[in-house]
Amino acid sequence: MNVLIIGATGDVGSEAAKIAVAKGHKVRALVRSTSNRNKLGDAKNKVEFCDGDMLDQASLARALTGMGGVIVSIRLTPGEMKQGRSYQDVEATGIKNIVAAAQQKGAKKIIHVSAAGVGPHCVSDMYQAKHQAEETIRNSGLDYTIFKPSGMFKDFQFFHIPTVIKLGETSKWPTSPIEFHMNPLSHIDLAQCMVNALENPKASSKTLEIGGPDCITQGDLLNMIAREAGINTHYTTGVSKEQLIARIKENPQKAFFTAEQLQDFLIDKKIDHSVIKDIFGIEFQRVGEYLKKAVPEVKAALAQKAL
Ligand SMILES: NC(=O)c1ccc[n+]([C@@H]2O[C@H](COP(=O)([O-])OP(=O)(O)OC[C@H]3O[C@@H](n4cnc5c(N)ncnc54)[C@H](OP(=O)(O)O)[C@@H]3O)[C@@H](O)[C@H]2O)c1
Repeated sequence: MNVLIIGATGDVGSEAAKIAVAKGHKVRALVRSTSNRNKLGDAKNKVEFCDGDMLDQASLARALTGMGGVIVSIRLTPGEMKQGRSYQDVEATGIKNIVAAAQQKGAKKIIHVSAAGVGPHCVSDMYQAKHQAEETIRNSGLDYTIFKPSGMFKDFQFFHIPTVIKLGETSKWPTSPIEFHMNPLSHIDLAQCMVNALENPKASSKTLEIGGPDCITQGDLLNMIAREAGINTHYTTGVSKEQLIARIKENPQKAFFTAEQLQDFLIDKKIDHSVIKDIFGIEFQRVGEYLKKAVPEVKAALAQKAL
C-alpha cells in the first residue's frame, strides 16, 4: 500500500516506518526541516520525504496525494510548545487537517495513536485534545484503527530505572501511587500492530486499548527494577494521587505536569491483552525480558557519568 506516515521521526512513528518499509509498503513521510531523519536508520533511503507540517493544509494535501493509507503518531513536542502551539492546535486541529486532506485525496485508511484512559470525562488540555482527535477520526467516514497504549517501556529507561537505582534501599516511591495497574508494552510491538492494521480486516473501524501481556502495578515494576539492579529493597508506599495534585496546586510553577494532566494520567487500568493477541497474533515483549537488558544498560551509563 502507498502509506503516508506523519510523525515518522518520532519514537513510535520511526519504528512504524521501518516496519512498513520491511513489509514492502511504499512509504512517504511528512517531515519538517528540523526533523531528525536519521531516526529512520537504514529505512531512510527507502522512504520518500515530503516537507510539511500538520498545521499547513496545503502540505498535507501534497503529501496525501496518491496515498491509500495514513499512519499518524504525533504529539505536541517541546519544540512545538516553544513556537507557542498548544495541544488543541497540534493534537486536535492537526488531526482535523489530516482527516480533511485524507478525505479530499481519497485515502481509505487512517491509523492513529492516542492513549489509554482518554475519554469524554478527561479534564486536561492534553487528553481533551486527544479525545477530540479520536472523535474526528471515528466520525470521518474513513476506515480507521485507533490505538490507545498503556505506559511504554521506553519511558522506564529515562525515569523509573535511573530513579530506582539512585534511590537505592528505600521502601517509599516519592513520585506517584504504587497500587495502580498498567500493561506496559514495547513501542516496537505497538508499531508492528499499527502497520498490520493497515490491511487487517479484524482491526477495521476499531478503537483498541493496547498493552502488553503483563498486567502489573507500578510497585511491581519498581520491585522488578530493583531486583534486576541488585538492590535489596521492596517498595511498600507511594504518594496518593490526591497528595500529588494538592502539591501541584500549591506550587504550580515548579511542576512538570499540571494538576489536570495528573488527574487524567494517574489511573488504575487493566487492559485485556487477549483482544490484541486475537486481532494481531503478535508475541509481545514481556516486562521482565525488557528489564533484563535495560537495567544493566542504565546502570552502566549512570556509573560512567559518575566517573
Ligand atoms: N510514551 C508513552 O508511554 C505513551 C503512552 C501512551 C500514548 N503515547 C502517545 O504515543 C504517540 C507517539 O509518541 P512518541 O513518543 O512516538 O512521540 P515523539 O517521539 O515525540 O514523536 C512525535 C512526532 O510528532 C511529530 N510532530 C509534532 N508536531 C508536528 C507537526 N505540527 N507537524 C508534523 N509533525 C509533527 C514530530 O516531528 P519532529 O520530529 O519534526 O519534531 C515527531 O516525529 C503520542 O501521541 C503519545 O502521546 C505515548
